[in-house]
Amino acid sequence: MHAFLLAGDNVELALMELKGALRAEVGEGKIEVRDRVAVVKGLTDEEARRVIRRLARSHAVYRLGEGERRLKVGDEVHPARPLARREKLSDRKPHKRPEFMPDSTEPFLARALVNLAEARRGERLLDPMCNVGGILIEAGLIGCVPVGVEVRRELVRRAERNLRHYGIEEYELHAGRAEEVDEILEEPVQAAAVDPPYGRSSYIEGGPVERLLLNTLDALSEVVEGKIALTVPEEAWEEVREGVSRVEAEVRDRVHRSLTRIIAVVRP
Ligand SMILES: C[S@@+](CC[C@H](N)C(=O)[O-])C[C@H]1O[C@@H](n2cnc3c(N)ncnc32)[C@H](O)[C@@H]1O
Repeated sequence: MHAFLLAGDNVELALMELKGALRAEVGEGKIEVRDRVAVVKGLTDEEARRVIRRLARSHAVYRLGEGERRLKVGDEVHPARPLARREKLSDRKPHKRPEFMPDSTEPFLARALVNLAEARRGERLLDPMCNVGGILIEAGLIGCVPVGVEVRRELVRRAERNLRHYGIEEYELHAGRAEEVDEILEEPVQAAAVDPPYGRSSYIEGGPVERLLLNTLDALSEVVEGKIALTVPEEAWEEVREGVSRVEAEVRDRVHRSLTRIIAVVRP
C-alpha cells in the first residue's frame, strides 16, 4: 500500500489529479481517502514513484505496511521518510521562463490539467489557446508530444523558444484560432487541456468566453480522441456544460475574491 499526501488549498482537486495520473500511468487504482491522505493499493514502489513525479498537487508518497492506514499529516506523519517527493515545479513559474506572458498558465495548474486529461507518455496533447506554452511545457516534460494553437502569431514563436529551453524537441505549433483547430491539425490528438482567456486584461478573439469555449469544444470533438481538461469561470459553466456530451469530473476552485473557476474533465 502507498499513501499520497494531498497538497494545497483544494484537496478535492489534488485527489482528482491523483486519480488522473494513476489512470494514465498504471490504470484504475483503488483509493481510500482520509483527510489529506490517499491510500492506494496494488502499486509497486516504482509505479508509486512514477505517479508522484507527475503530480503538482501532492507532496510525497510513503510506503505503508499492512494495517498502517492511519498516516497523519503535520507532526504525526508516519512512516517518517517518504519513498519519493514530487518534482519541483516552481522554477517554471511564468516569470522564470525565457518568454514571459502574465496570462500564461502557471505550472501547478498546467501540470494538473495534463494529469486530469490523462495524457500518457508518447501521446499528443493539444492546448488550443497555448500562449507561450505553460501547459505544453508540462506535457512535454512528462513525455507527451505537445501540440499548440494560438491566435496571436508572435506568441507561437515565443512558445517554441520556451519549449526548446526546457529540452522539448518534439512538438507541433500553429498560429490560428481555437475554434478552427479541426481544420488546422492534420492528425488527431489523444488529449487536450484548455485554460481560456478570462478576466479584464485578457486578450480574446471570438468571445465572450462561453461562446469561445462552446465553439472550441465543437472543433475539439473532431480531433480529440480522449479527454479534455478545462477551466471555466464559474458564471460561464452552466452554459458551457450544456455543450458537452459528458462531464467526467468537476471541482470548484476559488482563485481570489472575484474569481472562482470550475476545473472539469469532459468529453466533447
Ligand atoms: C490564459 S491564456 C492561455 C495560457 C496557456 N494555456 C499557457 O499554458 O500558457 C489564453 C490564451 O488564449 C488566446 N486566445 C484568445 N482568443 C483565442 C482564439 N480565438 N483562438 C486561440 N487562442 C485564443 C490568448 O491570446 C491567450 O494567449
